Amino acid sequence: MTLAFSNGKGVIGTVDAQDAFEPERIVVTGGCGFIGSSFVHHVVRERPGVHVTVLDKLTYAGNPDNIAGLPSDRVELVVGDICDAALVDRLVSGTDAVVHYAAESHNDNSIADPSPFLKTNVEGTYTLIEACRKHGARYHHVSTDEVYGDLALDDPAKFTEETPYHPSSPYSSTKASSDMLVRAWTRTYGLRATISNCSNNYGPYQHVEKFIPRQITNIIDGVRPKLYGKGENVRDWIHTEDHSSAVWDILTKGRMGETYLIGADGEKDNITVLRMILEAMGRDPEDFDWVADRPGHDRRYAIDSTKLQRELGWRPAHTDFAEGLKQTIDWYVANESWWRPAKEATEARYKAQGQ
Ligand code: NAD
Ligand code: DAU
Repeated sequence: MTLAFSNGKGVIGTVDAQDAFEPERIVVTGGCGFIGSSFVHHVVRERPGVHVTVLDKLTYAGNPDNIAGLPSDRVELVVGDICDAALVDRLVSGTDAVVHYAAESHNDNSIADPSPFLKTNVEGTYTLIEACRKHGARYHHVSTDEVYGDLALDDPAKFTEETPYHPSSPYSSTKASSDMLVRAWTRTYGLRATISNCSNNYGPYQHVEKFIPRQITNIIDGVRPKLYGKGENVRDWIHTEDHSSAVWDILTKGRMGETYLIGADGEKDNITVLRMILEAMGRDPEDFDWVADRPGHDRRYAIDSTKLQRELGWRPAHTDFAEGLKQTIDWYVANESWWRPAKEATEARYKAQGQ
């Protein structure tokens, strides 16, 4: 049987009924990070019957304040490591599904020291899928478009689900490795899994090490923003709330064993984004510093999300990047107490790298 779903005006997608899935209890790993916490808020807001257990190690990138204030009968935080097999086994035994966000996520850190990336991104994923295999839990794997490597700046192509893997950095190679583990567990053991590969997220609660928050908070501090290389690298920006709605759709309507690319047609080069931030904050658009380029710096990412849109009827809600950027700037201006504790150490790390 096939289920159809509409946007109120007409049918925009269908899903095989055998794959429709309504979990009551889910484990969200990395739910105190930037994107995982957005997903937790999304589920609490949109799905009143679902209980969320967040498993998070609270590394430098995890902050329990990101999910503070959510109802305690709906959300439980377990502080722990996804590499802890006994803990993972216990949590997975009592859940319908695992949505796996936890990762070491920053390229520059992976270049300085790859080892925690291998441990968390590869061994952590292995630990989770073994537990899901044992207990028959549904598994959704949150991954990145960076597994596909990069596109030339003048290439009209975009990444699709068929693009060969070609990761460039220690970070993206560990994410690619984890995707491969999930694919193998699906084929060999029949793990009920899906994978999503999303482009660059922006929005509130993003760590100040990342491009957009780093520049906003530098400007607030009276420091000139820092642009790598020639500023011509292109990223395909998507609001984190759109990423969250897409992951929910894939979890509940996606076909088993499938990969879905998530993107919102938000391609922009870095210098354009930086000038937009400077202008939105009332500064001269040329008031920034050129700094050392990232080794192996990927040139361009671009996502073709046709499969996700056609099969599952997903659409992004935040399609006005300038507006989303303005709201993000306003959030950092209003929430200095959230980002201030991480700022000094982050900039010290960059300074040591000449960035
Ligand atoms: P983040 O760095 O903001 O958060 C990562 C979270 O994982 C933190 O809360 C951290 O404490 C937790 N964590 C790290 N190691 C852990 C471990 N061993 N055990 C338990 N918890 C651990 O990352 P993010 O930007 O929110 O990215 C989340 C996921 O989305 C990652 O898998 C990333 O690869 C993927 N992704 C990110 C983007 C992006 O633009 N940021 C785009 C596509 C995909
Ligand atoms: O594409 C998805 C990926 O997007 C995710 O998988 C990663 O977890 C996430 O960190 C992000 O990776 P990027 O390396 O693209 O994001 P970052 O914010 O580090 O950098 C964005 C671009 O801005 C990149 O071309 C490097 C550049 N940059 C970055 C910083 C921090 C600068 O020019 N100056 C900076 O200070």
